[in-house]
Amino acid sequence: MSNGGQSSNKSFESFPDTEMTEVTKDFFFEGMVLPVPVYLKMTAGTYLIIGKKGDKAAFSNLHAYNNPNVRVFVQKLDQSVLVAYVTQLTSKIVNQKSVPENTKLKFISSLTADAMESLAKSNFTSISKIQKVSQLVQQMSQNMSGMDQLLIILADLQPVESKHAMTTCLVSLLLSEEMHMNQTAVQEKLVMGALLHDVGMKYVPTAILDKPRHLWTPEELQSYEQHPLKGADMLREIKEIPQDVLLIIAEHHENAISTGFPKRMRDVKISPLARIVSLANCFANLLFGSLAQSKCYTPDEAILYIDEIQGQPYNKQAFLALKNIINKKHLADKA
Ligand SMILES: [Fe+2]
Ligand SMILES: [Fe+2]
Repeated sequence: MSNGGQSSNKSFESFPDTEMTEVTKDFFFEGMVLPVPVYLKMTAGTYLIIGKKGDKAAFSNLHAYNNPNVRVFVQKLDQSVLVAYVTQLTSKIVNQKSVPENTKLKFISSLTADAMESLAKSNFTSISKIQKVSQLVQQMSQNMSGMDQLLIILADLQPVESKHAMTTCLVSLLLSEEMHMNQTAVQEKLVMGALLHDVGMKYVPTAILDKPRHLWTPEELQSYEQHPLKGADMLREIKEIPQDVLLIIAEHHENAISTGFPKRMRDVKISPLARIVSLANCFANLLFGSLAQSKCYTPDEAILYIDEIQGQPYNKQAFLALKNIINKKHLADKA
C-alpha cells in the first residue's frame, strides 16, 4: 500500500461480517486513488486494511492480494461510493463528448512524428511510405468515429507505451498496404486496434512488470497473459469501438502455431487483422526494445530472430509482406 509514497504499517481491524461486502478485484488498478478504505478478509470478523481512503492503490506487491483465495472487501456503507467512483473513471472515457480539434491534431501529430522518426532511423522502409501511413493516421484521427475516446485513452498512457502503440500502428498499416488490404474501413479498424492493443497492460501489476520475466511465478505469468482479454473487456462498453477492434486487442498475442496467449488459438481462428497486429507488435518490440528485451534489432536481425529463434510463428502472408517491405528497401538503397 502506498501512503503518499510512504508505506504504512499493516493493521487489522475488527468488523461484524454483516457490515462488510465483497468487491471484485477488477475495480482496482495500480495507482488509482482509493475513494474508500479497502480490506482483505483474514478470518471471520477480522480484516486487514490494505489501502486507506486517499491512498494510491499499490496492491500488486501484497502477497495476500495476489492470492486468488483471498477476497477484497469494503465496508457496506462505502460500497456505493466505490462503485460510483469506478463508474465515473470509466465514463470519463465513455462519455467524453469531444476533444477540441486542434488538441487532437497536436497530440496525434506529436505521436506520429515520434514514431515516424524511429521507423525512419531503423531504415525499415522508405520515408515516403512511412509518411503516407502517418498521414493516414492523422486523417483518421480527424474523421473516425470513436477516435475521441481512443485519444483520451492514449493520452492516459505513459509516453513509452503510447509510442509503442503508434509504432505498432504504423507497422500494421505498412503491412496492410503491402498485403493490399488498404480499404479505408479495414485500415480504420487496424489503426484503432493497433493503438489500443496493450491497454490491458494497466491491469498487470507493476511489481510483475518490474521483475525479470524468468523470475515470474506461474501466477504472475498468468496475470500478464490476461492483458489482451482485460483490454478488450475494458473497452467493450464503448459502442464506437467495433467488434473487429476488440478482437485485435484480445488476440494480439495469439499466433499461427498456437503457442500464443491467452487462448493458444490456431491461425485460422485468429481474426485477420489480429494476425497483422500480432506480427507488427513483435516487430516493433524487436526494433525498439520492450519490457522483455532491451536490445534493439535492425530489421534484418528482427527477421532472422523471428525466423530462427521464434520459429516464425506468425501468419505466413503477414510475415512475407514484412520481408517484402525490407527487401524492397534494400533494393531501393542499392539502386
Ligand atoms: Fe501486449
Ligand atoms: Fe504491445
